[in-house]
Amino acid sequence: MSANVAALLYLAAGVLFILALRGLSSPATSRQGNLYGMIGMTIAILTTLGLAEPTATSWILIVLGLGIGGFIGAKTAREIPMTMMPELVAAFHSLVGLAAVFVAASALYAPSAFGILVDPSDPSFGIKAGSLLEMSLGVAIGAITFTGSVIAFSKLSGRMSGKPILLPMRHVINAALGLLLIFVIYSFIVSAGSAWLFWLVVVLALLLGVLIIIPIGGADMPVVVSMLNSYSGWAAAGIGFTLGNVALIITGALVGSSGAILSYIMCKAMNRQFLSVIAGGFGGETVAAAGGGGEQKPVKLGSAEDAAYVMKNAAKVIIVPGYGMAVAQAQHALREMGDALKKAGVEVKYAIHPVAGRMPGHMNVLLAEANVPYDEVFELEDINSEFAQADAVYVIGANDVVNPAAEDDKSSPIYGMPVLQVWKAGTVFFNKRSLASGYAGIDNPVFYRDNTVMVLGDAKKMTEEIVKALAE
Ligand code: TAP
Repeated sequence: MSANVAALLYLAAGVLFILALRGLSSPATSRQGNLYGMIGMTIAILTTLGLAEPTATSWILIVLGLGIGGFIGAKTAREIPMTMMPELVAAFHSLVGLAAVFVAASALYAPSAFGILVDPSDPSFGIKAGSLLEMSLGVAIGAITFTGSVIAFSKLSGRMSGKPILLPMRHVINAALGLLLIFVIYSFIVSAGSAWLFWLVVVLALLLGVLIIIPIGGADMPVVVSMLNSYSGWAAAGIGFTLGNVALIITGALVGSSGAILSYIMCKAMNRQFLSVIAGGFGGETVAAAGGGGEQKPVKLGSAEDAAYVMKNAAKVIIVPGYGMAVAQAQHALREMGDALKKAGVEVKYAIHPVAGRMPGHMNVLLAEANVPYDEVFELEDINSEFAQADAVYVIGANDVVNPAAEDDKSSPIYGMPVLQVWKAGTVFFNKRSLASGYAGIDNPVFYRDNTVMVLGDAKKMTEEIVKALAE
């Protein structure tokens, strides 16, 4: 395949990736977005194969690689429950980082295969300085992404405590390590590609990845995952330069910038400064507070029948889903409840907090899966003013995202995060299994308010019972 044809095909793949991102920005177009992404990736892979013109042995290795990787990817993606998606994403990012390290190592040990020698006819002149820079940046970002993602995966999957691990003088240590890393990268380039300096870059970057992520507490993990997503994009772009592959540079830059934008949007949704998230330490006291207990305050308990009765006689009901709905897989029962209420003449709306659940868009995906109409689903800023006019609110498996401490308790770790003001509604039916805290590990004053009725139980079971009671 000629280089010009390949460049055109790579451009087409790049455009399809941009269309994919555009499509993924709304649940209504996300399937189409995924399709664009798949077509773009197929074009990119076929073009790369057409350019490389592999030998028979290489074909076997390529087909094996695609087959094994594709099988593991497809099987994992099919089997993984939606609630484990953030840790799966973190695990996948770690592989992108590792791939960057391996590609850079291959380029270092077989530079002629990558066309990066100063003089292709005489390897003794060594590797081009520009390629050494690309290679070292790619490997450093890749190694940081690898260990950072492994730590994020361990924290999200509960293999490691979500508590921040705060080393004394951690900022000084990290800054010193960062400066040392830059110095070693410089020395690696000046040495014209010394192998031991290359591996020193790898070791320092691996260590930095661990040290950057361990002080970050559980509640900030969503930002970290998207930040690592961004890093993995830049690592891929770095590999793209090493390989001289335009498609990889475009894709890496798209992933890198979209991940950075997502991190920014999430920080805004949680009212956190991006730099303070990266600096870490958030969430330490919260976890301790959760275990601390405290005096028991009285709550009003209610049944499915109570909830059904009040909601059926309401003019307007707002439903607020959260992580517990995802765990219980209650979205289908919830849609049935919404349908039954609408049939009874009640106006039904769904309110989605940007960080409800455990990943961006978590609730939107689940509601879309249950065929909840998109025009009934509203984002926080569009619906918050409506709670005061709602006769009833059904909070299903949400907790932190409806906690008023974020507005009025300056000592609260979630202070400043915008929250859904459910307490302003006539009656709040609060479904969860107990009075336990949510992800941030803090108590929720809404439980104890006069207009709150706790309908305790598994989200799916409780919602099904409400549907049954509505039918009677
Ligand atoms: P949470 O505050 O985590 O509360 C979820 C509640 O669901 C828990 O209090 C739990 O109480 C209840 N629950 C669990 N299983 C249940 C079941 N089977 N049936 C009924 N209830 C169940 O959730 P949220 O309000 O969605 O807030 C999200 C939190 O996660 C925020 O703090 C956010 O910062 C953080 N976070 C968000 C993301 C993204 S990007 N969305 C990623 C990571 C972390 P019981 O145990 O009493 O049932």
